[in-house]
Amino acid sequence: MINTQRIAEIIIDKSNFNGKIAVILGSGLSRISDKIIKKTTIPYSSIPNYPITNIKGHAGEFVIGELNGTSIIVAKGRMHYYEGYSLDLVTAPIRVLSKLGVKYLIITNSAGSLKIENPPGNFMIADSHMDFTFRENAKDPMIYYDSIFHDHGLIAIAKSASNDLKLNTCTGCYCWTLGPSYETPAEIQDMARLGGGAVGMSTVPEMKTSAELGIKTLTISCLTNYAAGISTMPLTHDEVVSNAGKFDKEFSELLEKVILKI
Ligand code: HPA
Repeated sequence: MINTQRIAEIIIDKSNFNGKIAVILGSGLSRISDKIIKKTTIPYSSIPNYPITNIKGHAGEFVIGELNGTSIIVAKGRMHYYEGYSLDLVTAPIRVLSKLGVKYLIITNSAGSLKIENPPGNFMIADSHMDFTFRENAKDPMIYYDSIFHDHGLIAIAKSASNDLKLNTCTGCYCWTLGPSYETPAEIQDMARLGGGAVGMSTVPEMKTSAELGIKTLTISCLTNYAAGISTMPLTHDEVVSNAGKFDKEFSELLEKVILKI
């Protein structure tokens, strides 16, 4: 089992982090970390026994410093269940953040939009989630709206930040699928019928762990594509990463504003 206490100590030794806010950045969404000053960068590969991510679009490092005067830690890149890691490893970064004293976590991801009215380039604030993985022992998919997973105060802050910036942001249900292949149009129809708003291959294990640890959590998806069958647009990982890059500037502005308002 990974020693998250030791990892937290390494991070404190190297960076003196004593903040309350953390951000996890999904594929291709890294711009906000460029705005951090008094920066310490800790590659995951430099931390003993730390899992590394091998997915294109994921840098694999912690960036610690100050953003507009606020002390912050950013995890650039995450481990995915589909990479063969256990849920314990996938959620280890959250336990590290908790040991560092983090109280507010913003989880970001790239996701496919299930609604024609929310095109790529829009952002979705998750007000709920659905486990669509059908793992052994997993319950049939249902929507969870609980504030322990989707902090109502943080959702209000994110909506107000988006209004200030006049961004196209919706709220909706984030659906977790196992991946790594994209969904079939029939699966997407099923998710949409159950009330899904966006689909992605991460985030739900992390938000569950952060809820267990009492960290207030906000999930924001960058809608990089229409999910399979919603439109005829191509759906490849390269397309997803390159679209995330295109929308990263506005996405980072939104994150920055949210952090200022917390
Ligand atoms: N499906 C699953 N994961 C994703 C998608 C998608 O359409 N887009 C970005 N991540």
